[in-house]
Amino acid sequence: MTALQLRDLTVRHHGPHGPVTAVDGVSLDVPSGRTLGLVGESGSGKSSLARAVVGLAPVHGGRVLLDGREVRVRTLRDRRRLGRLVQVVLQDPDTALDPRMTVRQTLVEAATVFRRLDRTARTEHVTELLALVGLDPRLADRLPLQLSGGQRQRVAIARALAVGPELLIADEITSALDVSVQAAVLNTIRGLQRRLDLSMLFIGHNLPAVCHVSDTVAVMRHGRIVETAATEALLRNPRHPYTRELLDAVPRLRTRPPEEEPS
Ligand SMILES: Nc1ncnc2c1ncn2[C@@H]1O[C@H](COP(=O)(O)OP(=O)(O)O)[C@@H](O)[C@H]1O
Ligand SMILES: [Mg+2]
Repeated sequence: MTALQLRDLTVRHHGPHGPVTAVDGVSLDVPSGRTLGLVGESGSGKSSLARAVVGLAPVHGGRVLLDGREVRVRTLRDRRRLGRLVQVVLQDPDTALDPRMTVRQTLVEAATVFRRLDRTARTEHVTELLALVGLDPRLADRLPLQLSGGQRQRVAIARALAVGPELLIADEITSALDVSVQAAVLNTIRGLQRRLDLSMLFIGHNLPAVCHVSDTVAVMRHGRIVETAATEALLRNPRHPYTRELLDAVPRLRTRPPEEEPS
């Protein structure tokens, strides 16, 4: 099965100076249980692509298929169904978290399945989710403000997982974090991939970081995919000059040993 298929997708925004083609005929696949990395500079169209998948950016042409079925967002019911299929985690975790809700409340609310669970089962599920994202269960009764940026981002990831989506889209989820925390969050993602059968579109502008968590990487520039390759092959033998540019632009990621996050 293929979790996500884009076929000749074009996204066109209505900018102040006329139409802006942010995504220009992109085709790509996220196979089930695998992670596709999408990398490119700011403005290359990555977020427009991600938003188009969930019906939040204007699709001008082409097709979006989830689990082989074409996505249509016309009604509120469509949107709810889509929310169960695809969850998006963004750069700024605060947009996903209600400042008045504790971590536990956030996770319980996200997992509609919890309605069927009793109190003990709910507590267990929350603990499980927190462990999955590497958070101490004792943080469950804190508010977002009482957490560090890295911890908030972990809660946002746990919240997305609580829904049990078919596809997780991560759009620059480490970009707002301190460098020391970025590697820890990337390693958490790798842990999730090992434990869950996660299908993921992992978006970022830092090529080594994207490579660290991706099976395959697609390089995007000016709305187009210029190169797609298995991660190892891309790192060993980047074919497109732009890919080489991206590789040279940032120092190699230090992901070992995993750094502790200040709390
Ligand atoms: N809502 C919008 N209205 C108009 N133009 C937009 C909108 N969103 C993005 N764009 C434009 O589309 C292009 C791609 O942006 P974006 O998808 O955010 O790229 P990235 O996520 O790679 O930084 C940019 O030129 C940006 O200015
Ligand atoms: Mg973006």
